[in-house]
Amino acid sequence: MNIRTYLPSDLEQICELEKRSFGIGAYSVSMLKKMFNAPGTINYLAIEEDKILGYVCALPLDNRMADIESIAIDPRIHRSGIGTILFNRMESELLRKGYQVIVLEVRENNTQAINFYKKHGFKATEFLQNYYKIPIDGTRNAYRMKKFLD
Ligand SMILES: CC(C)(COP(=O)(O)OP(=O)(O)OC[C@H]1O[C@@H](n2cnc3c(N)ncnc32)[C@H](O)[C@@H]1OP(=O)(O)O)[C@@H](O)C(=O)NCCC(=O)NCCS
Repeated sequence: MNIRTYLPSDLEQICELEKRSFGIGAYSVSMLKKMFNAPGTINYLAIEEDKILGYVCALPLDNRMADIESIAIDPRIHRSGIGTILFNRMESELLRKGYQVIVLEVRENNTQAINFYKKHGFKATEFLQNYYKIPIDGTRNAYRMKKFLD
């Protein structure tokens, strides 16, 4: 498995994986394109034989805080450590660039992601009522989670 940053030719596979991971809550092609090409984007992809196994993309909010916009791993290989590898790479790069805080929003019922973030040192700092436009399993609520980097 190879870890590298985004190339424009990755967009189609990223969209496919995003749809498989988030269903009706998935980002659109244009949003993903904007996110992976945005100034200051910090992104990593896990690749095996030209197949994208997972990706993470964070964007700076200011010069000390970055927001994880999306992280997704191919559902067939969840819980095999690839999310952790991508997260660790991203966190090291954020630290190297001088960021002090990572923030993210996660659906209140996305237990696997909440557990993943807790394992990586995040704490829920806010409950966001009706944060998402589209309900999934009857809720639009989210948690904001933060991690302070050393
Ligand atoms: C969240 C996600 C990126 C985690 O990636 P992953 O490669 O499966 O995670 P890892 O194998 O690195 O897991 C690391 C730890 O996270 C936690 N975790 C991950 N999946 C979990 C699950 N289904 N249930 C409970 N804990 C889980 C565990 O603590 C795990 O450590 P352990 O396996 O030693 O117990 C992945 O589940 C995913 O793509 N989910 C769908 C998309 C999504 O919801 N993204 C987040 C949006 S905010």
